[in-house]
Amino acid sequence: MFKTLLVTGAAGFIGSNFVDAALEKGYRIVALDKLNYCGNLENLVDARQNDRFTFIEGDVADTAQVLALLQTYQVNSVVHFAAQTHVDRSIKDPRAFIEDNVVGSQHLLDASLQYWKTLDEASQRAYRHIHISTDEVFGDLTDDEAPFTETSPYRPNSPYSASKAAADMFVRAYGKTYGLPVVIVHPSNNYGPRQFPEKLIPLMIQRALAGDTLPIYGTGKNRRDWMHVSDHCRALLAVIEKAKANETFNIGSGIETTNIEIVETLCAILDQKRPKADGHYRDQIEFVTDRPGHDWRYAMDTNKAHEHLGFSTGVSLQAGLEATVDWYLGNTQWVEHILSGQYRQWIDSQYGVKRED
Ligand code: DAU
Repeated sequence: MFKTLLVTGAAGFIGSNFVDAALEKGYRIVALDKLNYCGNLENLVDARQNDRFTFIEGDVADTAQVLALLQTYQVNSVVHFAAQTHVDRSIKDPRAFIEDNVVGSQHLLDASLQYWKTLDEASQRAYRHIHISTDEVFGDLTDDEAPFTETSPYRPNSPYSASKAAADMFVRAYGKTYGLPVVIVHPSNNYGPRQFPEKLIPLMIQRALAGDTLPIYGTGKNRRDWMHVSDHCRALLAVIEKAKANETFNIGSGIETTNIEIVETLCAILDQKRPKADGHYRDQIEFVTDRPGHDWRYAMDTNKAHEHLGFSTGVSLQAGLEATVDWYLGNTQWVEHILSGQYRQWIDSQYGVKRED
């Protein structure tokens, strides 16, 4: 008998990659997504061929609908990706982040708890409500500080990370107060196929190919821990199988890279794979006004995931970036469909005013 997972935000970047990985592992998937600007059914084209996959359009905030789904499909665990994820958008409109990330997550917890209470003891013990958080809840690090551990204090700096931190507190509370078997995962920056081109890596690939400027915030020396999405998905499958209730896990590559290094590497890869008629892609780099409150450095201590889940990174940054560039070069139609009016409006409002001439 296949185990059944309810996957929220399944039509997004990480959600859809996770769906593919979980189907491959033999799970049945009930996919929920409200298909907002970055939810895209084209991300689920392969999954939809699989008879262990069901897609439902809907909102995690609709407790009645979610409860009905959990009951109908006799779900074994919930994996909650659905969220507003883009820091720059949160700076312009924090409210959507409270609604989707805080209220939405709490309503989902309500449905999950109500359903969990109806299960027999063995199913209750095996059930997990897995909440995908972020390393950003821990704030940022100076150059000398040790990487974040699972016990680092919460110090969110952006409206986005504040909303994720608030949601984490509700998850923790549902575990402690009601006994719902929750797990919180703190992943670092993901990249890979199907990432929405508002995020650094796909934005740079797409703009480089279009001949646009490559806007780097501030000095470009901010550091992130970049992890290929397939590594993250493998870690999550291990969480489902091995994590005890009320645990939290940091997931990342353990390798830090500056933004300018990332962009220069992408430019070098593009120079090889799609040479320009004249010059190099790095000539398009432009330093622009910094992101307000821009977190300086994220770094992850992933020892706990290694010890408890047997997790270690499989994809090197160079190989992962090359594969990602290949994916975007090979899927120009996907990008063209994304380049809707709504996307253009965001790019104009974000980069139209940021350039330092
Ligand atoms: O750390 C995990 C987080 O990573 C996730 O929780 C977030 O949902 C995800 O958006 C991401 O947050 P970041 O702010 O780190 O990702 P983003 O791709 O927006 O930016 C990565 C770095 O690149 C950051 O230091 C800002 C910089 N940047 C970004 C953009 C979009 C630029 O210099 N120029 C840009 O145009």
